[in-house]
Amino acid sequence: MKKQIDNDEVLPARKSVASLAAEKRALEAATHRLAARRQRDMLPGKIVTPRLVLRPPMRGDVPDLVKLADNKRIYEVLARLPNPYTRADGIAFVEIFAQRADERPYAITLDGQFIGVVGFTFSPGEPPELGYWLGEPYWGQGIMSEAVKALLQAAFSTGHFPAIKARALASNAGSLNVLEKAGFRRLREDIETIGTGAGKPTVYLLLEQPKWM
Ligand SMILES: CC(C)(COP(=O)(O)OP(=O)(O)OC[C@H]1O[C@@H](n2cnc3c(N)ncnc32)[C@H](O)[C@@H]1OP(=O)(O)O)[C@@H](O)C(=O)NCCC(=O)NCCS
Repeated sequence: MKKQIDNDEVLPARKSVASLAAEKRALEAATHRLAARRQRDMLPGKIVTPRLVLRPPMRGDVPDLVKLADNKRIYEVLARLPNPYTRADGIAFVEIFAQRADERPYAITLDGQFIGVVGFTFSPGEPPELGYWLGEPYWGQGIMSEAVKALLQAAFSTGHFPAIKARALASNAGSLNVLEKAGFRRLREDIETIGTGAGKPTVYLLLEQPKWM
């Protein structure tokens, strides 16, 4: 009888330690998801810079999006851009990808025309990751620097972005320049394991919210 009582006391206690740990993990994951969703929802719908308007991608962008994204030079430096880039990819980007809770892409527009994408990807427990690409005809005019600085300013001014991360292939001097001019500091260089850049040296960077903001 005594043995029975001991088991009854011990087993439920063991179970509850395991289930408490699982509950704690689930709670942490839910908290991270909520924090990411809050960060995403704090961002403004539209950001205006001296030359550009950043706004949600829309169906009317698809022809320009497909024309500009269907470019091997862009595909080769991005982790996840299809190539060839088809009309179906463009529609999927606008209608599905851009609506995801863990993504916040902005269409970069110049004089009302779609010319590229800049935005954040949210992962639980990680700072949001900045990503971008610009149509090749628009390279070398300071456009991405202008777009990135405006987006970072908008994100930091919400007070909900303690840090933002980014990565670029070590060979992508243009992108590393954009990031370092915006204040990102290099954390480490490593071999990328996923996406188009798998196997290539990649620089991982971080930008913390400036103290004065
Ligand atoms: C990288 C990219 C976003 C740069 O956009 P951009 O509007 O041409 O960049 P900017 O004109 O703002 O240039 C920023 C700085 O980088 C320099 N730069 C731009 N392209 C460069 C290149 N290919 N090599 C070296 N420096 C470059 C510019 O001279 C500028 O520096 P400066 O202000 O001291 O003159 C654009 O080339 C692109 O979309 N490339 C393909 C996609 C990509 O690389 N995405 C990022 C993946 S991590």
